[in-house]
Amino acid sequence: MAWHSPRTVTKSLLITVSTLLILVLTLSFLDLRHRRTVFGLSSLVSSPPAPPPPSPAAATTLRANHPKLFAASGKWDALPQQIREDPYLTRWNKTIFEKAEELFTLPSVEYKVDGTSGVLDVAREVQLRIKHWAYAYRLSKQPRWKERVWKEVVVASGNSSEHSFGVRDDNWNTDHWLDVGEFLVAFAIAYDWLYDAWSTAEREAIKWSIINLGLTKGLEAHDTNAWFLMAVGNWNCVTNGGMVVGSLAVTRAYDPVPRDKYTPQPTLA
Ligand SMILES: *[C@@H]1O[C@H](CO)[C@@H](O)[C@H](O)[C@H]1NC(C)=O
Ligand SMILES: *[C@@H]1O[C@H](CO)[C@@H](O)[C@H](O)[C@H]1NC(C)=O
Repeated sequence: MAWHSPRTVTKSLLITVSTLLILVLTLSFLDLRHRRTVFGLSSLVSSPPAPPPPSPAAATTLRANHPKLFAASGKWDALPQQIREDPYLTRWNKTIFEKAEELFTLPSVEYKVDGTSGVLDVAREVQLRIKHWAYAYRLSKQPRWKERVWKEVVVASGNSSEHSFGVRDDNWNTDHWLDVGEFLVAFAIAYDWLYDAWSTAEREAIKWSIINLGLTKGLEAHDTNAWFLMAVGNWNCVTNGGMVVGSLAVTRAYDPVPRDKYTPQPTLA
């Protein structure tokens, strides 16, 4: 009963910002590729039976309007009143705004490679910022939030003349694919939550990064059966999850390969 109430549904929406982050952080931290078994993970990595092949995606059942990711527009529209009526939500809203303000004044994220972890911390930071600012924009409609997202997006696309950001055409670092997964989610949220606020040119620009720095690299990874796609562990969730979220954001806006030409590669045993 309780989980049907709009109040509870709204709580889920507010908590999404932090829960998703914590989930992704946790999954990414369990860096199975390098066998870090800090949480005694070895018992979790014994091979389960192969899952059944997925049924074809039903693109026709996808929501036509934005936002498509995590919560539809009706839930966002209902939020202000629910925040006013529910002290728990009031507190969450305040917390997110405070964090958004704190992040607002920071200089753009710097591209710093960290040993075997690539730019995972950089990608997570970009995602954290974009989530907070996009939320603040949706709730307040103040242009400065959107402008701050845009500034970060330009830098994290490798397009800023003032801040270098990784290797050209591979700025999201396919050498350490978790990073690409995290950047994809960050840009998908920027594109989708602020869809109505962007100009056509801005939309195209963000979509360009999702496709060229993320999804196209994902198709290449599938074509070469990259190890992480079928890994039993966090790499699978973060990389495939990033591709799914990135694809959902731009669905109907882009079709990378004509359907009759793209043949999925056989999956690993
Ligand atoms: C959410 O928090 C911000 C910052 O404290 C505040 O300005 C805004 O009025 C709050 N939203 C609602 C619906 O109360
Ligand atoms: C980044 O650069 C590419 C290639 O020039 C361009 O197509 C895209 O619109 C730019 N995106 C942003 C966010 O500046």
